[in-house]
Amino acid sequence: MSRRYLIAGNWKMNTRSREATALAKAVVDAIGEDTPVDVALCPPAVYLSVVADAVAGTPVGLGAQNLYPANDGAYTGEINAGMLTDVGCRFVILGHSERRALMGETDAQVSKKLQAALAGNLVPIVCVGETLEDREANRTEKVVGTQIRGSLSELDEVRAAGIVVAYEPVWAIGTGKTATPEQAEEVHAFIRKLLGELFTDDVAAQIRIQYGGSVKPGNAKQLLGKPNIDGALVGGASLKADDFLGIINAA
Ligand code: 13P
Repeated sequence: MSRRYLIAGNWKMNTRSREATALAKAVVDAIGEDTPVDVALCPPAVYLSVVADAVAGTPVGLGAQNLYPANDGAYTGEINAGMLTDVGCRFVILGHSERRALMGETDAQVSKKLQAALAGNLVPIVCVGETLEDREANRTEKVVGTQIRGSLSELDEVRAAGIVVAYEPVWAIGTGKTATPEQAEEVHAFIRKLLGELFTDDVAAQIRIQYGGSVKPGNAKQLLGKPNIDGALVGGASLKADDFLGIINAA
């Protein structure tokens, strides 16, 4: 089963429109018309449209960082899947550890968002990952397993193959501490086995599992060389075109 790498840049709450345009253009220009690797940019919601213009007609995909799981209506401040596809999104990041920690997002909410994303024809990137405390207490598989089961609880086998999972150990995010390729592969293999139990082995073999957490040009090749690591969800390094392109080249 060959899975195409997916390298996605999560810009988080960074950039302004001029920078966003320049960054997207630099990525688009370097990638050209054809790439063996899937690439996506996930800017802040207010800049989705300017980045959509920059990537229009190119292989670079657009992704959002969150959505609200409801149809249009009285939800002040929220953005739904229909709005995201309307401005050109193909992907949406869900359940990022920053949202889980800062906004108290739960697996049940991630599950609702996942259903809304799929109903709206978006590819969800479902994030999971343990804290340092969890890892030191040998709870990594328990925590990640609970997040996967909860976040995917309403997902059916037919749609499961199209989702993306991102394993992002919280202790590796923005800290410069990357999981070793062996540490990451161990959890990726665990996630794939669990996906096989929840769905089928064939479905699990199709689901892309990205690694995220201080991915840089210097460590990307070793991480992406592992059999169950199918791409990267990149934070800090995706804000510098050269670094992001270095990671894409590694893939
Ligand atoms: P960093 O690459 O900055 O560690 O962030 C990873 C991340 O959270 C991507 O979603």
